Amino acid sequence: MKKIIISAGLFLLPLANIQAQFTDINIVKEVKVINKGVVASAHPLASEAGAQMLSAGGNAFDASIATQFALAVVYPQAGNIGGGGFMIATTSGGKRISLDYRETAPAKAFANMYLDKKGNALPELSQNGHLAVGIPGAVAGMFAMHKYAKLPMAKLIQPAIDLAEQGFAITPDEAQLLNEHKSDFIKYSSGPSAFVKNTDWKTGDILRQPELAETLRRIQQSGEKGFYEGKTAELIVAEMKKGKGIITAADLKNYKVQERTPLSFPYKGHEIVTMPLPSSGGILLAQMFGMTSLIGLDGKEVNSPEAVQLMVEAERRAYADRAEYLGDPSFVADKTEMLTNADYIRRRFADYNPKAATPSSAVGKIIPAKESEQTTHISVLDKEGNAVSATTTLNGLYGSRTVVAGAGFLLNNEMDDFSIKPGVPNMYGAVGNEANAIQPGKRMLSSMSPTVVLKNNKPAIVVGTPGGTTIPTSVFQSIVNVIDFKKNANEAVNLPKFHHQWLPEVVSVEEGFPQHTIRELEKMNYKIQKREKIGRVEMIVVEDSGFIHAVGDGRGDDSVAWEK
Ligand code: GLY
Repeated sequence: MKKIIISAGLFLLPLANIQAQFTDINIVKEVKVINKGVVASAHPLASEAGAQMLSAGGNAFDASIATQFALAVVYPQAGNIGGGGFMIATTSGGKRISLDYRETAPAKAFANMYLDKKGNALPELSQNGHLAVGIPGAVAGMFAMHKYAKLPMAKLIQPAIDLAEQGFAITPDEAQLLNEHKSDFIKYSSGPSAFVKNTDWKTGDILRQPELAETLRRIQQSGEKGFYEGKTAELIVAEMKKGKGIITAADLKNYKVQERTPLSFPYKGHEIVTMPLPSSGGILLAQMFGMTSLIGLDGKEVNSPEAVQLMVEAERRAYADRAEYLGDPSFVADKTEMLTNADYIRRRFADYNPKAATPSSAVGKIIPAKESEQTTHISVLDKEGNAVSATTTLNGLYGSRTVVAGAGFLLNNEMDDFSIKPGVPNMYGAVGNEANAIQPGKRMLSSMSPTVVLKNNKPAIVVGTPGGTTIPTSVFQSIVNVIDFKKNANEAVNLPKFHHQWLPEVVSVEEGFPQHTIRELEKMNYKIQKREKIGRVEMIVVEDSGFIHAVGDGRGDDSVAWEK
């Protein structure tokens, strides 16, 4: 029998019950543990794969790798081996680590590749099908992460292989999305795939992915070469040729992960450790926390007009700078220091008016681009105190919707995160300029903001989310909810969110956002727009009592699991 159980209650070990068979899906929204490792991700089977590694003696890196590979199977809309991502980690030994396994533009890419002869942008090509694909970094990222892990890589990949081979019951959300995208899978892939069947998908149907299982086995047997060389690489290149894609065998072989220095800054007795360029996320967080601190949130209530107005004005100025200055630091000048130093932040916020909206035209001139929201996040904390926060993406929902024939996995459409034409919005409505223009080998600007917050040099919060340009604002609010508004992890994640990104000149609010705040903001000239969901935050908070509270966002199938 197939069961889908959603538990919203708070469990203290050993009350919660996780099903061993993949035909049962047990979504556990939150857990409190002590002296045990925890995992939060977008799917219960992926979180459980990570927790199994903790139970087998692995650390947070082992769990994160197993969860990432499992997400590539059970969460095809964003989990991936055909995409890329970022990781921030802090170790019990005091190391702060940042891994950048972002996709890169192929060698044959060029600035105007998505413009027609008249110079008009062709987002259909940057967002769908073979030409939209950046060179995937996720598998190389997992091997770079493995340097810090304890268990053999073969063991970490095995749960994903089992899930792909034996299949698993799909949730209502996944069934609906697979049905909605059936025609796209057919249109943008050269062959049949596991995601397409004659009849509609139903909740509890079993999704088996034998070709993906074979690909994962090649990675298990041959390491990175099992993806970037040999049969998998040949299948990717063959798929490219069938659809006018430009990724070559050399592109795949030459892909390199970058180990970077995390961006960190203090906030109210904490240290926020987050992602540097080519993510805009860390810089945005440093600016938003910096500007908000100039006035302060003390004495203000969560989601009150005073708090939201202050945070929105900080968001407005930070996102205006994002559009103007940010791109891959290997290709354009790195503006991190300029944008995050205290003097600049003070000057940037000097025109803040607590009584009225500042017009966006007054704080920036470049028109921003739109970014896709279908990313996914993994938060892990182990009992030794190692924290891993990893965000990974195909960019759009199911990426380019191109499945590699014979290899069974979806490819990203990350090329759309470049500014395909200065001023033309990307999928997320964000605009960019020359700093984020396409160049061969360049990494496209991202918003992914995996973050670890330290207190007394120990992890206090592990957090991240999907959501395109809403990622930094969701991470910002989730942290503020804990540190400033003293909310517990469940409240911090599930309180209604708001988002502003300079352009468009609107403040988005989720269903349930306080009406009083909306009315007060409207009186100050803010245009408020309701939207369904903002982000899917996976958060772990270490409480002063020593309890570890892990929460999977209530907005999706997100679920927590823990060491047994
Ligand atoms: N593709 C979403 C991001 O990287 O921000």
